Amino acid sequence: MGLLIRGGDVVTTEGVFRADVYADDDGIIRQVGRDLEPASSSDRVVDAGGQLVLPGAIDPHTHVALPFMGTVSCDDWFDATAAGCVGGTTTIFDFVIGSRGERPLETLEAWMAKAEGKAVSDYAYHMAVIEWNDDVEREIPEVVARGIPSFKAFTAYKGALMLEDEELFKAMRAIAAAGGILTIHAVNGAVLNALAEAFAAEGRLGTDVHHLCQPPESEGEATHRAIRLAGLAGLPLYVVHVTCDAALKEIQEANKRGQEVYCETCIQYLLLDDSLYSLPDFEGAKYVASPPLRKPSDQEALWQGIARRTVHTLGTDHAPFHFETQKVMGKDDFRKIPNGMPGVEERLSLLYTYGVETGRITLPQLVEVCCTAPARIFGIDDRKGAIRPGADADIVLYDPHWEGTFSVKTQRSTTDYNCYEGWKRKGRPTQVFVRGRQVVRDSAFCGEPGFGRHLARKPRRR
Ligand code: URP
Ligand code: ZN
Ligand code: ZN
Repeated sequence: MGLLIRGGDVVTTEGVFRADVYADDDGIIRQVGRDLEPASSSDRVVDAGGQLVLPGAIDPHTHVALPFMGTVSCDDWFDATAAGCVGGTTTIFDFVIGSRGERPLETLEAWMAKAEGKAVSDYAYHMAVIEWNDDVEREIPEVVARGIPSFKAFTAYKGALMLEDEELFKAMRAIAAAGGILTIHAVNGAVLNALAEAFAAEGRLGTDVHHLCQPPESEGEATHRAIRLAGLAGLPLYVVHVTCDAALKEIQEANKRGQEVYCETCIQYLLLDDSLYSLPDFEGAKYVASPPLRKPSDQEALWQGIARRTVHTLGTDHAPFHFETQKVMGKDDFRKIPNGMPGVEERLSLLYTYGVETGRITLPQLVEVCCTAPARIFGIDDRKGAIRPGADADIVLYDPHWEGTFSVKTQRSTTDYNCYEGWKRKGRPTQVFVRGRQVVRDSAFCGEPGFGRHLARKPRRR
């Protein structure tokens, strides 16, 4: 059965235009144009009058069922992808992060098993390199051969995930040789640990010092270092969850020099600030993530970055932990609070409400950072990220007139709080399709566990 979506306003990175969209029964878009007719009487016709027709959004940064800091992020592959779908996100890139002593291919098998039979929408992986040894070096080309040419390194989480500079540089050279791209969590881990230790020695163990251990300078420094090392290694670099002007400037400088460096920020860094860490009753723990929330001036720099296209993508770093049962692990010591926040479900509507509706960014810019750029940078633009003939029919009908609020009471993610509780929401996805299959009907989830597929990708270059 084909699918004809009639009369909506199709949004691309270039503009917004009234058009019909026709997808065949293989779930591939075949035509975008005016006055299209169904190809057969069995085709489904959906009226999109008054609605925006957006490409299914891509979240380049999630942590589904991630074992981390003594617990596991609480959304599994069904929960996270279903939450994504109701929020208009139909592809996620999840980080494959094992523990030291485990081979990358072993970790990858475990990740694939977790998603299999559960994912509702499509997904791809970034493979983390958390130590350097012969096994890791040997398996990097094999990981690429399995369709995963994007990797991840951390300059923080010392003793767990962090690579020292020598290891990082060796990993960069190996990834470059294999035709990969490296994503990086860039904060100076040594500074972070020294400052956290100093606060602890003063007996300051509350959430209010979390952000003071990772000041913007420590993010700027690590971003600078990673960029320079990647330049030496001849490796494309993608800096994840950029929070501040100090790091953004380093990336802009690199881009001016002609170096291939991409900048991702996440929705929380545009909208929430570090005053939340001083909330009473341990409430600040809900926002403990690394890097931390920053000042309004940094938020402003990131908004401008999106508008000027120097911030290339917008992710969520969706790493949900229950407040009552998981965040509470750090009640007496902020260093033990599982780091991470949910967001895969809220990102698109938040960006629409607080970005497009306020005039900070345009609809084509929303599509660029949430759909088209992640697809292009990570090599799925042959299938995803745009409404065009030949692409998968991953389509979101978004009703921009609907008004409501964000709330834990109505969310699908399994966290017991919503970071945007009670915030005004303008618009929401009404109908969502993944490869032509309906996964959201009248804003209610109707997808099927196991329908989601892994998106194997080609190396970027050799
Ligand atoms: O606090 C965060 N961001 N937790 C998830 C892991 C990471 O660093 O991205
Ligand atoms: Zn990170
Ligand atoms: Zn992350």
